[in-house]
Amino acid sequence: MARKRWANVNALYQIYPRSFMDSNDDGVGDLRGVIDRLAYIKSGEKSLGIDAIWFSPFYPSPQADMGYDVSEYCDINPMFGSLDDFRELIEKAHASGIKVMVDFVPNHTSDQHPWFLESQSSRDNDKSDFYTWRDARADGSPPNNWLSIFGGSAWQWNESRQQYYLHTFLKEQPDLNWDNPAVRQEMKRVLKFWLDLGVDGFRADAVRWISKDPHQRDDLLAAHCPDEQSVRSFDDLQHKYSRFWENLFPYLRELTDVVASYDDRIMIFEDYPDGNYGTQEQYLGFYGVNPDVSMPFNFEGLGAKFSAESFSTMVNEFQGMINPDIHTPVYCFSNHDQARIATRYGGTEQARLVALMQLTLPGLPVVYYGDEIGMTNAPIQFDEIQDKSVFSHGNDESVGRDPERTPMQWTGEKNAGFSQVKPWLPVDPISKKVNVDVEQHDPDSFFALYQRLLKLRSQYEILRMGEYEPIGDAGDDIFAYARWIGKEQHVFVALNFSKETRRVTLPHAGFILCSTHPVDYPAIGANGVVTLRPYEGVLVECSEHRLQRDN
Ligand code: NOJ
Repeated sequence: MARKRWANVNALYQIYPRSFMDSNDDGVGDLRGVIDRLAYIKSGEKSLGIDAIWFSPFYPSPQADMGYDVSEYCDINPMFGSLDDFRELIEKAHASGIKVMVDFVPNHTSDQHPWFLESQSSRDNDKSDFYTWRDARADGSPPNNWLSIFGGSAWQWNESRQQYYLHTFLKEQPDLNWDNPAVRQEMKRVLKFWLDLGVDGFRADAVRWISKDPHQRDDLLAAHCPDEQSVRSFDDLQHKYSRFWENLFPYLRELTDVVASYDDRIMIFEDYPDGNYGTQEQYLGFYGVNPDVSMPFNFEGLGAKFSAESFSTMVNEFQGMINPDIHTPVYCFSNHDQARIATRYGGTEQARLVALMQLTLPGLPVVYYGDEIGMTNAPIQFDEIQDKSVFSHGNDESVGRDPERTPMQWTGEKNAGFSQVKPWLPVDPISKKVNVDVEQHDPDSFFALYQRLLKLRSQYEILRMGEYEPIGDAGDDIFAYARWIGKEQHVFVALNFSKETRRVTLPHAGFILCSTHPVDYPAIGANGVVTLRPYEGVLVECSEHRLQRDN
């Protein structure tokens, strides 16, 4: 079997730096807090046992979009620490066998970035073409109908240049002009800076927007939208010209060539499934960029209904589409922009089932901090909202993305052990019961399930790299699959998506390696029949093909 980059990594853990651990009691998480908790992540006695971490942006930033508005790419925001803290973090993480990935935000900077300050100062300066500027139409309105994801026109008027600039996200996040070779050069310099510091990879943000129609033609109306006057929200247009244009993959190739020139480093592209393009075209396009080095997330689970049919369709179609020898799947069911698993799928039993599925599928699974203890979306009052995108959406019903970004629940004590002072977002009151401290001592906990699955994924190559094969006709409400390597090794996974008990027949008899119900595993009959309790999932070692442990 060909060795892929990051082949031995069992999973990637997303850390939202503001919310992981506050070491200096200012109410905001920081790098020293992460250093203090490396033992929790991997090296300690009761650790989660995960091999890689990814940091959401920790760069200098006015925090209009919580760090996705970068004002300096090659430094650390003092709120989170210093470059020396980061050097120490990398060194200690590597010493514990933890890889470190950082977020890379190529499409836009902050409007406080020195490039933008210079660019907006006149029409004739070194950086004048670093962003997308255009004159107003004759009536003073924006140059075309492109929309911002966060609401309203994607164009903002600038007094000093007497022109509009383009911003796909907040107006504080002007889009860089990737058709300018000097911009691409700068972004490659940024990658080299972090690679030379020792980072093992990048999660590349919002990449589909780096290539746009150079003629900036109007986007088309969505099928449900009769005319321009009816356009109210982002989904009222088909975003044909404002993104995903012809140079997208060549530009990404330039970036990934830099990553490829370093040993065992990778780049994961953020890209959501989108009706405007076939998912096949999207996935294979992104995989085709530099298959040895880069890969897109698979976010389909975020929108999938909680049912055997919907998850099996999603996984089987995806696995059937990619070439498993060269493409690494990156299944992701939760992140800082989406409801937490335990909230989205309707309860903790359901979330445990999704965890067992995710950690037994091929590739590099991504776990969002706190999901491993079953954190749910926290209640946020209107006057506590920090996510500014809520206000530009003009939707006062929504509290935006704060509920999934609340402080990590370490203990049942004050502020969940995250900080001695009031944290930047409120701690979920459920932390009295749902916290690391309690769960590390409970063999039936969420944490114990993740710990067991991650350990198995480290021990058995078959779970990371083995082939995937669906098991058809496993029964109503059952999603079942096999993983195998050659003729010698097989495991089976059977997942019961029903709230009722279900009988499943596996291709062979076997032994349970893990169940979502850790106490009292079900028995498997000699004929391969197993009875699964409501929402129970099992990982089964086949008795005819015993597994080899590789560490
Ligand atoms: C995707 C990030 O995940 C999200 O948090 C951010 O608001 C946008 N990209 C813009 O950078």
